[in-house]
Amino acid sequence: MKVYLETMGCQMNVLDSELVRSLLRESGMEMTDDARSAEVLLYNTCSVRDHAENKVHSRLGWACQRKAGGKRLVIGVLGCMAQRLGIELVRRHVGVDIVCGPGQLGRVAEMVLEATAGHGPQIALDSSTALRVAMRSSKGDATRNKAESDDNVEFLDLHRDPLRHHLPGQAYVRIMRGCDKFCTYCIVPYVRGPERSRPPEEILEEVRRLAGAGVTQVTLLGQTVNSYRFADDGQTVGLADLLELLESVSGLKRIRFITSYPGDFDRAILQAMCDLPKVCKYLHIPAQSGSDRVLRAMGRRYSRGEYDDLIDAARQTVPGIGIAGDFIVGFPSETEEDFAASADLIRRSRYKNSYIFKYSSRPGTTAAKRLTDDVPNQVKRYRNRELLAEQEAVSLAGNREMTGQTVEVLVEGLSPRAEKQSRKGGTVKPNAVRLGRGSSEHGQVFDLTVPPPHKQLVGRTRTDHIVVFDGSENLAGQYANVKIIDATALTLFGKL
Ligand code: SAH
Ligand code: SF4
Ligand code: F3S
Repeated sequence: MKVYLETMGCQMNVLDSELVRSLLRESGMEMTDDARSAEVLLYNTCSVRDHAENKVHSRLGWACQRKAGGKRLVIGVLGCMAQRLGIELVRRHVGVDIVCGPGQLGRVAEMVLEATAGHGPQIALDSSTALRVAMRSSKGDATRNKAESDDNVEFLDLHRDPLRHHLPGQAYVRIMRGCDKFCTYCIVPYVRGPERSRPPEEILEEVRRLAGAGVTQVTLLGQTVNSYRFADDGQTVGLADLLELLESVSGLKRIRFITSYPGDFDRAILQAMCDLPKVCKYLHIPAQSGSDRVLRAMGRRYSRGEYDDLIDAARQTVPGIGIAGDFIVGFPSETEEDFAASADLIRRSRYKNSYIFKYSSRPGTTAAKRLTDDVPNQVKRYRNRELLAEQEAVSLAGNREMTGQTVEVLVEGLSPRAEKQSRKGGTVKPNAVRLGRGSSEHGQVFDLTVPPPHKQLVGRTRTDHIVVFDGSENLAGQYANVKIIDATALTLFGKL
């Protein structure tokens, strides 16, 4: 059975898809990148903004139409939107066979088999998450559902194939699930359930297995990753302790973590970033707004002053740190003055990059229930453009300062441009020889007098700066020292 799995949304979904792929392969299914030739179409979805959901509806429209036209197809919706809409998806798109929430992904293989056998729509949702939605709507915002989740997704992480990851030599590792912050605009706590930290020994074991399989960079994932806390036998392990534990894993070269929440940020984490050589000097720490009034309305539990202090502390404790941010523009009632405070925060924080989003009202969230989405779309668009322009100027200045430096990059592979060219079959010279690492042992003959063809590669520094340079494709997954010779706002250009 050929399965096509497309991923939308955040890194958590990228990891989930990777784990689901391992599971499906183990069950004897074959993965394909070509939706047209697949017999099973799966979409791992995101609900964070309206736009993300619309994209899924249009994919499902296409898939269901093909099925209605007589093609034998199993169609599945996985992830956050599956959790949010549940059975409604089957009603809206006739032809959908599988609806599986993020806490139930360990059951996807079994659900595909059942659906193929014609056993009706398969629905698996996280009941703790559904309960939490009900409790919040009946008892108001202060209610938290700490009930044990019945999800079986732990199974996925524990059974991952250490040889498969999203980029050569790199892997995502989930250290916690869910979120308890309930920012008023955000759907994530409703679809991903309560915050739960994984036991440190389990994480250590997973990272050891990955390192043993050749992974040198791990990115620890959590919605509020700095809230990681695991208590056992009267001892509490926080993120700083976990970093120290992982520092000892042999073979590992880089440890990163995303995404940080600015409230309750333990300064010991900054110290760990400074002291532990494997921990990357990179912080993704979204502010969402620079205005205290908007931060309060968003339910973010920090003030502008506290945020500024944290950024100052980060720059002081971790010299050379790369900091990235997120902003929402057009939050209900956002004035020009509030907006100007966000622009000011971009300049003050000197982010290396920011992700900027137009506010999108999410059904069921506190903001959707209590606030009017009153900033007109063209104002949101304008503020989005303006903030991007502010960020671009800050990024360009920061990147220009890096020219002349030699930096270590972990090579991801071909740059998007080179990737496109190579898909068209354009660049490889006819006399080019592939130099496989150590492949002479396997009887391959290659001519060392012909250098491998150089292509445009992309890699990242320890501060998460993107560097493009020419080199051999088989550097993917390796480390290279690159001298920065030019810079734009988005990219550094270098020479090996
Ligand atoms: N846990 C992370 C964010 C996860 S969602 C954190 O707290 O920083 C990723 C980003 O999407 C958020 O940082 C926010 O900027 C944006 N986002 C979330 N909900 C949104 C909404 N309703 N409208 C527009 N952007 C939103
Ligand atoms: Fe959403 Fe806020 Fe949780 Fe981030 S911290 S996932 S923005 S509720
Ligand atoms: Fe989207 Fe779910 Fe991630 S809503 S941002 S895929 S946690």
